[in-house]
Amino acid sequence: MKNIYSKISGIGKCIPTKRVTNDDLAKFLSTSDEWIKQRTGIEQRYWVENNESTSDLAFVASQEAISKAGLAKNDIEMIIFATLSPDHFFPGTACFLQEKLGIPGIAALDVRQQCTGFLYGMSIADLYIRQGIYKNILVVGAEVHSKGLDKTDRGRDVTVLFGDGAGAVVLSRTEVNDPKRDSHIYSTHLHADGTYAKELWVPAPGMANGSELITQAEVIDGAQYPKMNGRQVFTHAVRSMCDVIMEGLKHSNLTIEEVDFFAFHQANLRINEKVASLLKIPEKKVFNTIQKYGNTTAATIPIGLYDALSEHRLTPGMLVASAAFGSGFTWASSIFRY
Ligand code: UT7
Repeated sequence: MKNIYSKISGIGKCIPTKRVTNDDLAKFLSTSDEWIKQRTGIEQRYWVENNESTSDLAFVASQEAISKAGLAKNDIEMIIFATLSPDHFFPGTACFLQEKLGIPGIAALDVRQQCTGFLYGMSIADLYIRQGIYKNILVVGAEVHSKGLDKTDRGRDVTVLFGDGAGAVVLSRTEVNDPKRDSHIYSTHLHADGTYAKELWVPAPGMANGSELITQAEVIDGAQYPKMNGRQVFTHAVRSMCDVIMEGLKHSNLTIEEVDFFAFHQANLRINEKVASLLKIPEKKVFNTIQKYGNTTAATIPIGLYDALSEHRLTPGMLVASAAFGSGFTWASSIFRY
């Protein structure tokens, strides 16, 4: 099994149709295009408008990823679904996606690591493939945030950040003879620190919420909406993303200069600019999509890879460093040759 690795063999995406500009948000929130752009870089995002669910968006992205991989749906042996906006409390959204794809019987796993979920999912898939257990695994990141945001001024710090969308990749078994040329994942590196779990979270409904999932008073109070300590998240994100990229590169004796393309999570353009400046990464190597889509959490990285590929910014053979940070806190990196 020495030469057996996994590689990305297909990528798909799905962006809902309703474009929501910063000015649109300013119609019902005390905010402005200027504030949002200046603090986050976001210009617009897309929200579902026909009641689509998270698995609906994932279904479209997954079908495309499978077809771009040159595979049929029955070639997929496992589904890994990263989301913080599941279709239901249970069962996992991977099961709803599996039903839509019509591939019963294979393993279906949900990953609940928020913005870092996609990289956690890639890591699990990579290990299953390198162990020789599966040949093709679908890894999806998808979110419908718009139905779960506080659209009153109370939630404006969070609401302006998030967009809906889905991205999917197929990871496939590959033999690597020349690591400097052949597509493969070198390694993935996962971290978490639950000390900060309540710095970015949804307090209720939940089983830790006293004697009821959620009370009427808590609903009125907005406990069902995300709460965030933005400054705390920002500071930790910059430091952790820098550290975890360097950890990934060091693991394979690679240098930051050798990386051709940086696929960062899209939480805030300023976070990515700061990471790039601290690591002395030239601007042209960083591909950001937050301006167009906002933060689509588990979907940002596959959506970014998809767009970069479409725009020929990402091409076969490139060395890619991907990193994410988010609620949990969780953070991770993946170093791969596309
Ligand atoms: O994937 C992880 C997801 N989250 C993140 O990565 C978030 C990371 N953090 C951030 O991106 C930034 O902290 C924010 C963009 C969320 C906020 O930027 P900030 O520079 O940290 O602003 P702040 O929270 O310190 O707020 C500054 C002011 C406050 O008003 P006062 O107290 O100075 O009068 C806020 O009430 O901006 C106000 N504010 C807003 N104003 C207009 C907060 N949200 C908004 C808004 N529009 N949407």
